[in-house]
Amino acid sequence: MARGIGALAHSATLAGGPRKDGPPRHFLDIDRHETPELRGMLDLGFAYKNGRRDRPLEGKTLALIFEKPSTRTRVSFEVAMRQLGGDTIVLGTADSQLGRGETVADTARVLSRYVDAIMIRTNHAQKLEDMAQYATVPVINGLTDASHPCQIMADVMTLQERKGPVADTVVAWSGDGNNVATSWIHAAVRFGFTLRLACPEPLQPAPELIGWARREGGRVSLTADPGEAVAGSDCVVTDTWVSMGVEASVNRHNLLAPYRVDERLMAQAKPDAIFMHCLPAKRGEEVTAGVIDGPQSVVWDEAENRLHAQKGILAWCLG
Ligand code: CP
Ligand code: NVA
Repeated sequence: MARGIGALAHSATLAGGPRKDGPPRHFLDIDRHETPELRGMLDLGFAYKNGRRDRPLEGKTLALIFEKPSTRTRVSFEVAMRQLGGDTIVLGTADSQLGRGETVADTARVLSRYVDAIMIRTNHAQKLEDMAQYATVPVINGLTDASHPCQIMADVMTLQERKGPVADTVVAWSGDGNNVATSWIHAAVRFGFTLRLACPEPLQPAPELIGWARREGGRVSLTADPGEAVAGSDCVVTDTWVSMGVEASVNRHNLLAPYRVDERLMAQAKPDAIFMHCLPAKRGEEVTAGVIDGPQSVVWDEAENRLHAQKGILAWCLG
């Protein structure tokens, strides 16, 4: 299976295989999975959302490593593990020897002797790759500078809930071509929906990634014109102008100002279009209060769906 730019750049690991007699089942990026596997995770997430109550992770522990702050990812993973019968241990960089220079590889080997799975949120995608290479338990990507797959699994779930089969939908992205946009591109290819990205030229996703999406037969387009991307779409998405680890600047602000999702831009989408944002949001920057707090916004469902989608991911990873 051809894979997206993140995977092309870091080819160390492959997902899949049963835990006892094969490699651990990592969840590193959406592009590394076949559609039926992803669909299976989401179906499981929907089952838990709709009342399934078994506790398949009884006796299992998930380590959560955070090199960057988090509200949703931390709480939704902790609650998901508990509701599935398991437990969690949270490590910030300051709490572990990672903060003093112990290698990711050594940390991966040691944690694998204690816990059943590792989720990592890190500044550098390479650290995720190292963790996956050296861990003997499943590793889950809780956001890197390059991608945010758990978020977009929840977003696809939200899109399906609101709009039905996602392959029939058009999603428009207006803003920074960042880590979240990358996972949207992976998802558009694997789930078969149309994705139109509008990003200022200096902040567009890598040409290799767009090239990969097209070679895979994805309906992914890129423009610098937000109106063109949003026109007639079913869902409008944006994200912060200043991702964690990125430096804020006047130039960046000026580049992104025309991509703000305001009532005028939202009005160019279908009248029943939804608005999504992974959060945290900065009202008045990438989105106006009128849109994010307005009737088309589904951001609270989207945040809730992190919990359900991640139950599907955890159950898949842990077998
Ligand atoms: N959307 C998201 O990942 O939020 P947190 O940074 O709060 O985890
Ligand atoms: N693009 C944002 C997403 C936060 C959940 C960031 O990386 O900070």
